[in-house]
Amino acid sequence: MAKAVRPAPQCPLQAVRALTRAARERTRAFPNGAYRMADRFNTIAGWTLFSGIVALGLSSIAGHYFEAGKFEKPEHPGYTIAGVTEEGEGGGAAAAPFESFLAKADVAKGEASFKKCMSCHTIEQGGANGQGPNLYAILGDGIAQGRGGFAFSDSLKGVGGKWDWTSLNHWLENPSAMASGTKMSFAGLTDPQERANVMVYLNAKGSNLPLPAVPATPAAGAAAPAVALVGDAAKGQKSFAKCASCHTIAPGGPNGQGPNLAGIFGDKKGEGRGGFAFSDGLKAMGGTWDDASLDAWLTSPSTYVQGTKMSFAGLTDAQERANVIAYLKTAK
Ligand code: HEC
Ligand code: HEC
Repeated sequence: MAKAVRPAPQCPLQAVRALTRAARERTRAFPNGAYRMADRFNTIAGWTLFSGIVALGLSSIAGHYFEAGKFEKPEHPGYTIAGVTEEGEGGGAAAAPFESFLAKADVAKGEASFKKCMSCHTIEQGGANGQGPNLYAILGDGIAQGRGGFAFSDSLKGVGGKWDWTSLNHWLENPSAMASGTKMSFAGLTDPQERANVMVYLNAKGSNLPLPAVPATPAAGAAAPAVALVGDAAKGQKSFAKCASCHTIAPGGPNGQGPNLAGIFGDKKGEGRGGFAFSDGLKAMGGTWDDASLDAWLTSPSTYVQGTKMSFAGLTDAQERANVIAYLKTAK
């Protein structure tokens, strides 16, 4: 689904100037400084707005540069711009892949957001159809099929296929964009993280599909090469010396300051590991360790998990991280 990148206002500087001008006029009207705070606020707001516009402008340029006439999402986005995440699939290389929102999605938050759906949908197994169909085990099920004979619109029936992470994401973003004559009169959830939260909540209700892998993305803000790094497990084993003061990796090895790491790739975050006492932050992450999440974790554990117990500054070299991850994969 190709979506245009939000256009930047005609002249960003004008917007900034207008805000600072308004502030200055107010200071003149109240020379005793009563409006000093508002003044400062406006200046800050102006510059914040300005940098936002610059970021959007950049993402727009990047979008054109990387898209050059084709609208598939590149498998490995060239780079990401921190804070610009909402441009949607195909909106440009600057958008974070939706998989990354799923990787950090929160079932409890999804349940809270599902209140927006409950006027029309039940979710428990055997729940009644209402204005919309019961949604138990919807992920993996056929689109507009079954559901106790619910009378779907022809429009949604015509879509075909199954509800998977991609189709459900598009549906929840904008139902009528996917099925123009849909009966679901719901504007959609514009926040990708909220959609991801709702989706993992739906998934937890009877579907339990594995989360999709996150395409490898460089650390936010870093201009990393567009080429995916191939890890060298042998070199990774050497780098693992940096981890060995806290971690064993042989199967059945003891926990130390950190948990044993045998078979960690693909395993759940912050769970099991012979009852290791994980931090609440890591326990709350959910999902499994894959390339992207391990890369983010090893770049800076305390950025990836607030309040983590792993006191390790991180590996700044992307190639070294790729090597260590390749090594972790071999440690079954
Ligand atoms: C105003 C009522 C209403 C709201 C609110 C609503 N839906 Fe729906 N939903 C419907 C209707 C009606 C359909 C059937 C659409 C059709 O047949 O075109 C539907 C269909 C669906 C389907 C497809 C079911 C299938 O078997 O193919 C999913 C998934 C879904 N809704 C999820 C949600 C989620 C998640 C939310 C909240 C974020 C939500 N809906 C909010 C009314 C609603
Ligand atoms: C100073 C000790 C220390 C060092 C050095 C260290 N770790 Fe850790 N590691 C920990 C602790 C403690 C935890 C548990 C973190 C938590 O609960 O927040 C952990 C957790 C992990 C986890 C998550 C395990 C799980 O079950 O979810 C991985 C993966 C990991 N470390 C990999 C590494 C790698 C790879 C290195 C070296 C590049 C490394 N660690 C270096 C202490 C360390």
